[in-house]
Amino acid sequence: MNTTTNHSSILRQAPDVIADNVLRLERDLAGSVVNDLNPLLGSLFTLFHQYQKHHWVVTGPQFGQLHDFLKDGYSELHDQADKVAERITALGGVPVSTPARQQELACFETEPEGVFDLRQMLEHDLNAEGDIISMLRVLIRRFNGLGDFASEQILREIIVEREEYAHHLEHYLALESLTRAMHPML
Ligand SMILES: [Fe+2]
Repeated sequence: MNTTTNHSSILRQAPDVIADNVLRLERDLAGSVVNDLNPLLGSLFTLFHQYQKHHWVVTGPQFGQLHDFLKDGYSELHDQADKVAERITALGGVPVSTPARQQELACFETEPEGVFDLRQMLEHDLNAEGDIISMLRVLIRRFNGLGDFASEQILREIIVEREEYAHHLEHYLALESLTRAMHPML
């Protein structure tokens, strides 16, 4: 059986080609925003996969709460990635869509396959969130400078949600102060 498909014969827009847009944003400018948005899209989807894995493998006394919290995390990331991808198409670009390429473009190193200690897995998530937040901050400033205020606004909304989620992760990782208060000598 021949399992190879010649996709190039039906390719209508190569991944690196920027089409015209109706937003009256100059094509070069739109292209540079797309080049910045695709790594963000890759990062959001890569973290989406990481949260999904953690949602699947989480165990322990806080299982129920964390299982739901991680589901909120990947659901939120999915919606955010969708908004970024749709902005890329509005700008005339092609959103990066294969998991392999998304991971390659991501701004953080994804956790390897396998199950780790829960604390370690949440620390990996918090580090990834930090890298994405830093990236968002740089891009918001850049898009403002370029005059692409809609892309800037979309990223502003995302950064508020990502910072809030990272803050909640930090709370899950906090030491149990109630127990320490009961045992002041520890
Ligand atoms: Fe589930």
